[in-house]
Order: sequence, then C-alpha cells, then structure tokens
Amino acid sequence: MPGTVGHVPEKTADPSPPELFTKEFADDPYPAYAWLREHSPVHRTTLPSGVEAWLVTRYADARQALADGRLSKNPAHHSGSARAKGKTGIPGERGADLMTHLLNIDPPDHTRLRRLVSKAFTPRRVAAFEPRVRELTDRLIDGFAARGEADLIHEFAFPLPIYAICDLLGVPREDQDDFRDWAGMMMRHSGPGGDRAPRGGVGRSVRKMRDYLAELIHRKRAALGPVARPGEDLISGLIRASDHGEHLTEGEAAAMAFILLFAGFETTVNLIGNGMYALLRQPGPRERLQRSLAAGETELLATGVEELLRYDGPVELATWRYASEPAVIGGQRIAAGDPVLVVLAAADRDPARFTDPDTLDLSRTDNPHLGYGHGIHYCLGAPLARLEARTALATLLRRLPDLRLAADPAELRWRGGLIMRGLRTLPVEFAPVP
Ligand code: HEM
Repeated sequence: MPGTVGHVPEKTADPSPPELFTKEFADDPYPAYAWLREHSPVHRTTLPSGVEAWLVTRYADARQALADGRLSKNPAHHSGSARAKGKTGIPGERGADLMTHLLNIDPPDHTRLRRLVSKAFTPRRVAAFEPRVRELTDRLIDGFAARGEADLIHEFAFPLPIYAICDLLGVPREDQDDFRDWAGMMMRHSGPGGDRAPRGGVGRSVRKMRDYLAELIHRKRAALGPVARPGEDLISGLIRASDHGEHLTEGEAAAMAFILLFAGFETTVNLIGNGMYALLRQPGPRERLQRSLAAGETELLATGVEELLRYDGPVELATWRYASEPAVIGGQRIAAGDPVLVVLAAADRDPARFTDPDTLDLSRTDNPHLGYGHGIHYCLGAPLARLEARTALATLLRRLPDLRLAADPAELRWRGGLIMRGLRTLPVEFAPVP
C-alpha cells in the first residue's frame, strides 16, 4: 500500500507549462520553478537525456521526499533503459568500482560506509584546516590582484576547492595541478552547452583520477604505522577508520576519496561563483556585508553564506532518487522504478516556507534551506564548504573592496546541467593592488 508524502495539491492545470532545459531556463530557472510549484508541484517531464522523471518543487514535498526510505539512491531501482541507468551526474562514470559510493547506495551499506567515513572526515579535522584555506585563498588572489581584472571562476572559485580537497586528502602538492586539469576537463565539458571535449577526454580524466587515487591509497596503506600520527591526512584516516573491527577496503576508500573530490569541488565552485555574482549585482546587501566584515563581525557572513546557498545554490535540480516501491508524493502517484528529482532550487524559493523568497536577505535566520540536502544523505562536506565559502567571500571583499562585474549579465553563460547551477565565467574588474 503506497504511503503519502506531503500535501495534496489543488488541481489548477494551466494549459501552458513553461519550457524546461532551454537556454532561457538555464539563465533563470526561477520563473519556471514558480509555475511548477503552483500548478504542477510533482511534474512529469522528459529530461534532455530522454529519461522520464518526476520533478518535486514544493519545499514540504521536497523535504519529505529527501527523507523517504522508499525513494532509493540506488540506480538499479530505475525501471528505465540500460542506457539511462546509473545517471548519477558523474561525467564519464562507469563500472562498479566508482559506483559504490555514498550517493548511490541505501542502508544498510550506506549506514556502514557513512559511519566509517564520518570517523575520518570530522568537523574537527575541517576546523584544523582553516589556516590552509586562508593561505590558499590569499595565494589565488595574489595571482591576479595586480592586474585589476580577473575571471573569478577560472582563477579563484575553481582552483580553491580542488587544492583544498587535495590537501585535505593528502595528495602531494606536486601532483595537485594534474587534479586541477582532470577536474577542469570534467567540469568544462559536462552539461548542455558545455564545450566539446576531445573524444573520450572526460572519461579519460575520470579514469586517471581514479587510478591515481587507487595507487595513492595503496602506497599510503603500505606506509601506515600502527598508531595515528597527529595531523594525518584524510586518506590515511579513511584507511584507518574502523567500525566494530570493520575497515574500508582499498576499493571503497578509493571510491570514497573520489566522491569527496567530485561532490566537493563543483558544488563549492558554484557556491563561491553564484554567491559572488549575487553580491556583485546587489550593492545593498554587499555593502552591508562589507561594513560588517570591516567591523570585525562574523555573524552576517555566516547567515549570508547560508542565504546565498538558499537564494541561488549550486545544486539546482537533481538529487536523484528512484521509487523502490509505489509511493505518493504531494498527492501524485509515483510508480515503482520511476526516477524522482528533488528540485532544491525550487523548494528553497517556496513562499509557503520562506518570507519574501526572491529577496536576498543576508541576515535571514529562519532559513532551513535544503541546499545541502536533508535526511541520511545530508551533505557530509557541509563544514568544509562553509569554511571555504566564508573565507573566499570575506577575503575577496576585504582585499578587493571595489570589485565589480566586467560583463553584461545577459552575456554570461550558465552551465545548464542537470545537477549543478553555476556560471562558466565571472569576469570582474577592480583597482589593481600591487
Ligand atoms: C551530499 C550539496 C560541498 C561531500 C550532498 C547533497 C547535497 C550536497 C544537496 C545531498 C544529495 C542527495 O541527497 O541526493 C553540497 C553543496 C556543497 C557541497 C551545496 C557546497 C557548497 C561538499 C563538499 C564535500 C561534499 C566540500 C566533501 C569534500 C558530500 C558527500 C555527500 C554529499 C560525500 C554524500 C553524503 C551521503 O550520501 O551520505 N551534498 N555539497 N559536499 N556531499 Fe555535498
């Protein structure tokens, strides 16, 4: 017997549903989401890949769907074609070795793996990493400060999380530029409207990254002593982590390191990119934040980063799930095997939950946004993402106080992917700082 998730919507069918997945939609999806929330809150659509899926856009439905155990993360539950199966959004992802990661599995496997990785990826480890994030941020700004202009995506928002997560994992500095290249290939060429990758380029980059991590884990495991050293890196922590005598296998540790890199880089690029873009376009909130930072306060920065995540967050559309049994969401029957996409960006602008949802209010405190998800798959990297975003935005605004957009917003290209929402470039100018 199917259970009910969420409320039953009124049937006020409007004859003209918005066109989804066009360039206009990628530039500004919020009007289409407002329409869906109002008229078709659990909406059947055909994705650009040809896969049929349900879009869940109301906050209450989205929150409950994210926590509903009948909606599985395991693509094996998808009733669709073999080609469509396993579309987790990881470009070039193939093969069982990388598929066994947190975002693709359900309890009890998920519970075991998440418990193990949580033992290594602790808020304490992240907090201890703060000086390194500051140093990285300053070094990246030093790279362009004297020029008076920069592309904030390529020169700042993109490299920061890559170097940060590589450092945290324990990838030697001399190898980190390889990761920057591989991740760049994955990011530039994924999503509709992406540049055309050289043939097989994305898959090759994923394989190189995977092979490198597997080899590094193998070497670190061989070199690991019996007792943890203070300041040991995250990969060593992952290898060491044990739960009731159980350890991660080398394959599981490699998949975990890969998913930390993958889940943690483009999301953070887009939080910094979208966040900075919103601040550049809205002088009121931005000046208020600058004044608060100049006065040595941190509260507005903290609430502000959460608000930027709600207002125009990096994970727009797809937090894939597959109905493992028939379910009812928001009054809509979902058949077993149907894919369900929870549209975080739509839920986080729902006027039924947020006052003035289309207003950027950096001091918003009643802000239980879904930007990091909800339930057992809640973002494991949220403390790191917060640390990076707060450091990045505060340092940029402090060091380059007259930062301004150097392009017509209509000319900027958004990456209209199915998972991420982010800018391809963010050209800025400012008074050069020698
Ligand atoms: C899960 C968002 C940064 C690692 C998630 C989910 C969301 C999310 C929405 C849940 C997906 C779902 O339910 O299907 C974000 C955002 C970030 C960010 C907006 C940055 C602003 C990071 C970072 C890391 C990370 C920096 C690690 C270094 C993970 C992992 C999961 C996850 C491992 C899977 C957790 C699980 O399935 O148990 N993230 N994330 N994320 N995130 Fe993040």
